[in-house]
Amino acid sequence: MVKILICGAGGFIGGHLASKFIGENNIKVVCADIKPIEYWFQNFENSENHSLDLKDYKNALKITEGVDYIFNFACNMGGMGFIENNKAECMLSVLVNTNLLRAAIKNNCKKFFFSSSACVYNSSKQDKTFVKGLREEDAYPADPEDGYGWEKLFSERMCRHFSEDFGLETRVVRYHNIYGPIGTFDGGREKAPAALCRKIILAKKNKKKIIDVWGDGEQTRSFLYIDDCIKGTMDVFESNNQEVFNIGSEEQVSINEMIKIIEDIAEYKVEKNYQLEKPKGVRGRSSDNSYVSKKIGWKPNFTLKEGLEKTYSWIEQQILSGSNIEKFCKGNIEKND
Ligand code: GDD
Repeated sequence: MVKILICGAGGFIGGHLASKFIGENNIKVVCADIKPIEYWFQNFENSENHSLDLKDYKNALKITEGVDYIFNFACNMGGMGFIENNKAECMLSVLVNTNLLRAAIKNNCKKFFFSSSACVYNSSKQDKTFVKGLREEDAYPADPEDGYGWEKLFSERMCRHFSEDFGLETRVVRYHNIYGPIGTFDGGREKAPAALCRKIILAKKNKKKIIDVWGDGEQTRSFLYIDDCIKGTMDVFESNNQEVFNIGSEEQVSINEMIKIIEDIAEYKVEKNYQLEKPKGVRGRSSDNSYVSKKIGWKPNFTLKEGLEKTYSWIEQQILSGSNIEKFCKGNIEKND
């Protein structure tokens, strides 16, 4: 029997990974999240579920007892609207990863996975639209996204040194804007794919013509569908490679182009009210997957259109049914006391 701990299991990526493991033979799953269990995005019955704050070392020590593998997705995060306005909160997540690393050593855990982010990349490589895909080496010299990106880069580095100094096996990936069903779509933490699906769904429902768009819509990103993210996570976790890898898409689009795809899915056209004062983040960002493909053999399968069709349809169901809105859209539930 193998014991796996998933930290941040009440959230988006952690929730999808936990549901993959739960019910598998010979795996005992322990789920942890700071949110009260009724706010977890997915309900898990065949796992041990704990609502607790991993910024407290005692909690980290207790929850990792007897655990073989740790997956750490627990951090205070969200889309641009959240991370740009909550830098200190985002940086405090350093306590979670640090406590878990220390506890992993103390409790002789076998392997440790850390979810880093494309926000670690040097900002000078992202100052234009349709930039070249970011390669893993582009994180240095360090000039990451203020707040959230610094925390991720520092925690990556902690993993590296815990591995070098204490022999802990670590795996680290940099996610590039992961989206899909069973994630937040309103309330302040939502990212662009979910936010824009919601805005177009509501415009169509209420027969409105105009939606608000942050920035001028020309900024570019690549977005990775959740199923590709989970597959990439497992491929890196199971590999023998301790380097840091991109888990992202190479399909770079402008926000205006993504809106066009969503309009086609919705069969509804909108006009755009560009809000230039809203959080915009970097001007252009995309993943270069050549290194992860070469070393791990992973590449994404879903096109943006395919992923958005599934995401749109799930968000539409939530909005039309009116259920679960509180659970998926309660923006600031993890605020530090
Ligand atoms: N969230 C959001 N909501 N973004 C919008 C909206 C809207 O209604 N309209 C336009 N945008 C624009 C933002 O201004 C930004 O330029 C772009 O869409 C992407 O925004 P996000 O999806 O919120 O974030 P991001 O790509 O800048 O960063 C996200 O991905 C990183 C990994 O690649 C964040 O979630 C980070 O936390 C994450 O690490």
